[in-house]
Amino acid sequence: MKTDGPGLTVQSRWEGGLEKAREISSALGIRISNEERVPAGEYRIVVFEHGVELWDEFSRKHGMPLNFRSVDLRTGTGSLSHKQPIARAIGRSARTILDATAGLGHDSFLLACLGWRVHAVERHPVIFTLLKEAFLSIDGDVQISPVIEDRLQIHNQDALSWLSDPDNPDIDVVYLDPMFDAKRSSALPKKPAQILRRLVGLDDDVDQLFRSAMNHAKSRVVVKRSDHDPPLVEGPSRSYKGKIVRYDVYETRNMIDG
Ligand SMILES: C[S@@+](CC[C@H](N)C(=O)[O-])C[C@H]1O[C@@H](n2cnc3c(N)ncnc32)[C@H](O)[C@@H]1O
Repeated sequence: MKTDGPGLTVQSRWEGGLEKAREISSALGIRISNEERVPAGEYRIVVFEHGVELWDEFSRKHGMPLNFRSVDLRTGTGSLSHKQPIARAIGRSARTILDATAGLGHDSFLLACLGWRVHAVERHPVIFTLLKEAFLSIDGDVQISPVIEDRLQIHNQDALSWLSDPDNPDIDVVYLDPMFDAKRSSALPKKPAQILRRLVGLDDDVDQLFRSAMNHAKSRVVVKRSDHDPPLVEGPSRSYKGKIVRYDVYETRNMIDG
């Protein structure tokens, strides 16, 4: 994980957003900016009345919104179909998932909307702040709230410590989507993938996380990979292919109570 990322500031473009901008500024130790444009190579968290966006040097009136509204909430042929590869990889018998590499939370959100209880863990402070803003944006949303109910919880810590804490609930499936070799394509859409790469770098300790996941998940570990990349670890039991990604399933057989 990178600790020295690109420059980052925060700004409110709405009178009522100053308090949130100050809150983010002190949580991350970043400056509140009054400048119109974002300097080249930097990012800015911008607070609007409609929610929070992430801006880069090319943003003018709007940047990347931090919310989950791009997910198609239709069942059947929409994103909420249980026939899609990610849902088949998790499996119907699972109830609780740990998304150990939550990032901007797209996969966690989707899995929670599909009906699983999801603990989303993100260790990078900036990414966690962006995730938290997206998470807050769904609170009380009349379309999303009834779909997701209270099934998504977010945690700002390393997944290794989350997994080893005996006070945390049992987990059926651990889901992993690590940042890997930057030269290869990412499993995420272009813009969020670029942002994560620049802010986080590579997750070069993923082998340790995989081993811990295999020790703790009651039924399986699911690893998301770009379609043409080799498995993270040799020998998945099976794989489910999407258009550009693949979900490799590793059975753990740690069932305690059947
Ligand atoms: C490729 S991104 C995940 C994207 C995510 N699936 C989504 O839908 O937005 C990987 C993320 O995992 C986080 N990460 C990697 N190892 C971690 C660990 N041991 N504990 C917590 N977060 C971790 C990184 O900081 C990064 O934000």
